[in-house]
Amino acid sequence: MSNYNIAIDGPAGAGKSTIAKSVAKKLGFIYVDTGAMYRAMALYFLRMGIDSNDQQRIEEACKDVNVTIEYRNNEQIVLLNGENVNGLIRTEEVGNMASASSVYKAVRLKLVELQRELAKNENVIMDGREIGTFVLPNADLKIYLTASSRERARRRWSELKERGIDADIDEIEEDIITRDNRDMNREFAPLKKADDAILIDSSDLTVDQVIDKIVKYHNKNIKNKEA
Ligand code: DC
Repeated sequence: MSNYNIAIDGPAGAGKSTIAKSVAKKLGFIYVDTGAMYRAMALYFLRMGIDSNDQQRIEEACKDVNVTIEYRNNEQIVLLNGENVNGLIRTEEVGNMASASSVYKAVRLKLVELQRELAKNENVIMDGREIGTFVLPNADLKIYLTASSRERARRRWSELKERGIDADIDEIEEDIITRDNRDMNREFAPLKKADDAILIDSSDLTVDQVIDKIVKYHNKNIKNKEA
């Protein structure tokens, strides 16, 4: 089997990265977190003090940004102009800037070739918003993973609570809905279920149940391909 690719798309907070990471480990695939790449670009724009509405400055800044990735101990390391930024990109501020700046075509085109190149050379499970529709339209297995906005907000709220951070669940849900709207309604490569993607709604499923489902779909898919 060579270069088998799994695409997982879905809205923010659906659990894509936790699940994709675990499926990658089970199958011996490389996990590619494309959101981290958009977050690295966003960190650059924030550092440069660029407003997310300033399309011209964002497009100009794209010329000076170089995002690459490396794998160390099976972990994806995102390098922004050579600097490891893994520890700096998981904030709400960077997430919101990533959602806002990724509407621009110049930002997306900067990353798509890197993503396609990775998938060409390795068996990957890649998560994002438009992997099945745009980045890897010929992926062997496509999953669209979602959950209700309330459940996604609840998960995020309990994650924060565990870290001792008090947050308002209604505000988190509002933020999630804003992000969904922007990701789904942008003009270029919006978040959308590919026609041939399998829909999994994880609102009432545990992480392990979702992982099991995906591994089963994968095994079935391989059998069908061999038949
Ligand atoms: O998955 P995430 O929360 O790390 O992604 C942050 C933002 O980056 C998301 O709101 C939209 C953008 N993004 C994108 O446009 N396309 C992707 N393939 C991944 C992320």
